[in-house]
Amino acid sequence: MRKKIGVGYAYVSELEKKYVNMALDAGRLSQGEFVYKFERQFAKLHNQKYGIACNSGTSALHAALEALKEKYNWKEGSEVIVPAITFIATSNACLHARLKPVFVDVDSLSYNINPKLIEEKITKNTVAIMPVHTFGQPCEMDEIVAISKKYHLKIIEDCAEAHFAVYKGQPVGSFSDISGFSTYVAHTITTGVGGVITTNDSELAEICRSLIAHGRACTCEKCVASNSEYVCKLRMQTDIDKRFMMVRMGYSYRIGELEGALGIAQLENREYIMQTRKENAAYLTERFKDYEEFFQLPYYPKYIDHSFMMYPIVVKKTAPFSRKEIIDFLEQNNIESRPMLPLLNQPIYKEIFGDIEKNYPVAQWINNNGFYIGCHHGLNEDDLEYIVARIAEFIQGVKKAKQTTSIVTK
Ligand SMILES: Cc1ncc(COP(=O)(O)O)c(C=O)c1O
Repeated sequence: MRKKIGVGYAYVSELEKKYVNMALDAGRLSQGEFVYKFERQFAKLHNQKYGIACNSGTSALHAALEALKEKYNWKEGSEVIVPAITFIATSNACLHARLKPVFVDVDSLSYNINPKLIEEKITKNTVAIMPVHTFGQPCEMDEIVAISKKYHLKIIEDCAEAHFAVYKGQPVGSFSDISGFSTYVAHTITTGVGGVITTNDSELAEICRSLIAHGRACTCEKCVASNSEYVCKLRMQTDIDKRFMMVRMGYSYRIGELEGALGIAQLENREYIMQTRKENAAYLTERFKDYEEFFQLPYYPKYIDHSFMMYPIVVKKTAPFSRKEIIDFLEQNNIESRPMLPLLNQPIYKEIFGDIEKNYPVAQWINNNGFYIGCHHGLNEDDLEYIVARIAEFIQGVKKAKQTTSIVTK
């Protein structure tokens, strides 16, 4: 049996092993030098001053929203504009921060929030827009930034799926007040589980550092490393050791040195990772062009540098087969896929928001007909050829079955 072609891939080279072993030998497993180095490098690569590593992309987004809420004194239940197609963690992060996600339908080609539909959803309670760069494709940030300026809204970018993606020469994560990335295993840069907050705002960074560490008063690197002999000025200001003084309701959202070590190695390997993904996606697009009457393939303008966390396909209305038929066929042939991306019809969301999916026709169309396959750096030419051949076989089969039916019914 052929090896499974998964949607994600955990790439562990000798470099990852070397750095993890160095971290193990250093004898410190909780947050330390490896984590700080990873944070600094990750932030710098996205043109941001501060990076704060978290134990998931969801905790990164949650802490980022809580930090904005504290800094700008947002009321409970303030509204945040989110797309109607995303992984549920985006809108869950709003709910965790006791903010109200307000859904906006997506664009039918990019699957990202449709900027033309944002303004009609803005009310006096709106405080922020949370664009999601789905599958590695940056949103139309010029339009989103213009709307945020016009209505004095903050932007928080959900970059969970879009490490190093670029819009008009500028990396994602650098258009907003604060951003959240995921480094979960199927994502472009992975630390197994994890996430990173990035920002240029020192106050937001400081609040996030505190929030992810139980709400500590002092979050400076040397104090957090509790075996350090260094005593910072803040710690000297009162009788209470500020390392253990909690000044806000916080969470336990930190990562440790092993994840930090993995992250540094992944960043050093990023060019290979990114280049292979892009080449694989380009190869699939080229080979699937013959089936464009059945499939909507990724479409993006020239000023976008797509980072292809996944390869999305939407089955067109004109196709003589359903999404279920093709994904079942792929599954039988050991090619993994996932539906794209159920949100508003999730049972828990129907309970919270009611039956609202019908109000978002593009999202509903994508939710019913879209799926994605992997295009990651673990796939070689043979794997790609295998995917292309199986899809060709499926389409031939469908055409043949159709011809037979029309002969029988004549
Ligand atoms: C768009 C988006 N936002 C947030 C997340 C949450 O990241 P994590 O799974 O690391 O919590 C994901 C994860 O897949 C995602 O795709």
